[in-house]
Amino acid sequence: MTAAHTPVMPEEAARLLVPEAFSPDGAGELMVDCTLGEGGHSEFFLRRFSGLKITGVDADKKISNVARERLKEFGGRIEIYNGWAQDFLSGLGAGEALENLPVMPRPGIILLDLGVSLYHYGKGGRGFSFRGESEPLDMRIDTGRGLTAAEILARRGEKELADMLFFNAEERYSRRIARAIVETRRWTPITSAAALERLVWDAVPSSYRHGRLHPATKTFQALRVEVNGELEKLPVLLEAAFEALRPGGRLGVITFNSLEDRIVKGFFRAKTRRKRGGHGRFADGESTPPEAAALTAKPECPSPEEIKANPPSRSAKLRALEKVCGTEV
Ligand SMILES: C[S@@+](CC[C@H](N)C(=O)[O-])C[C@H]1O[C@@H](n2cnc3c(N)ncnc32)[C@H](O)[C@@H]1O
Repeated sequence: MTAAHTPVMPEEAARLLVPEAFSPDGAGELMVDCTLGEGGHSEFFLRRFSGLKITGVDADKKISNVARERLKEFGGRIEIYNGWAQDFLSGLGAGEALENLPVMPRPGIILLDLGVSLYHYGKGGRGFSFRGESEPLDMRIDTGRGLTAAEILARRGEKELADMLFFNAEERYSRRIARAIVETRRWTPITSAAALERLVWDAVPSSYRHGRLHPATKTFQALRVEVNGELEKLPVLLEAAFEALRPGGRLGVITFNSLEDRIVKGFFRAKTRRKRGGHGRFADGESTPPEAAALTAKPECPSPEEIKANPPSRSAKLRALEKVCGTEV
C-alpha cells in the first residue's frame, strides 16, 4: 500500500522531540501522535526509536484504518484512537481511562501536524480538492458530526460568508466571492467541488486567475477550516496537549498557514515567558517562572531538498517546547 501523504520534517521533529537525554532508543517513553493521518510520522518514529510506544489519534475513521493497516507490523508498540485529539488529551490530562485503550502514563512526547493530509485531497472523496474529478462538498474530517461545506454555503448570509473567507484564509476577494455564492444559490444549490471552483473563477478579476495560487485555493481552505472548526479548536488542543504532557516532556507543532502559526506562536510565547506580578513589573518575587522552555527560537522550516522532493511541505513551520520539570498542572 502506498501512502498519499509524505510526513513533513520527520528528521527535525525526531531531533527536537526525542533528545538523547530521554533514552537513545526511546525506551520507556510514550508519544502521542495527535494527528496520525496515514501514520507517516508514527512509522518514522517507531522505526527510528525501537523502544518507543505511540498512541496515534485521528478524528477521521477512514484514515485511522489506513494507519492501522500500515503500522500493524509494530504490534503492541502502537495503539490507535479514533476521535478528536483535544478530547483524547483532556481525558489523559485528567488521568481518565479511555475507551478501548489501556490506562496509560502521561506522554513525554506529543506531536501535532495540523490540517488535513494529502490523502484527503487525493482519496478523501469529500470535496477537499477542486482538482481531478468533482466530488460532493462535504469536507468534514469526522463525517459523523457537524455541517457539511455545502450546508454552510446554503445557510450563511452574505456577510457571514465574506467574513469566513477573510478570517479563515485571508481571501482578498472575500466580498465578491460571497456575493457570487449568494447569487448562484438563488438558482441552484452549490453542492459540488467543481461548481464552487467555477463560481470562484468567474467571480474574481482576471488578474487573480493567473497568479501563483489557483483563485479557488483560499476559498476551499476557508471552508475546510470552518467545517472542522480548525482555528477555534486549536487553542483548546494546544492547552490540552500541554496539560497532558509529563513535566520534562516535549511538544512539537507543525503548521501550514500563517493563521494557525500565529495562534501557535502566541501560545508558545505565553508558556515560555515569566508571568507578570501584580504591578506589571518583573521585580523579584513578583513573577512566576515560565511553564516551558522554547526549543526553537524561530520555527524550523523544510530544507530546499525536502521542498523539492515534497512540494506541499513548502509552507510548513515546526515549533517545539519542553515543559519545565516541576510544572505539575
Ligand atoms: C497533516 S495530516 C497528518 C499526517 C501525518 N502526520 C502523516 O505523516 O501521515 C493531519 C491529520 O490529522 C487529522 N486531524 C486534524 N486535526 C485533528 C484533531 N484536532 N484531532 C484529531 N485528528 C485531527 C486529520 O484528519 C489528518 O488525518
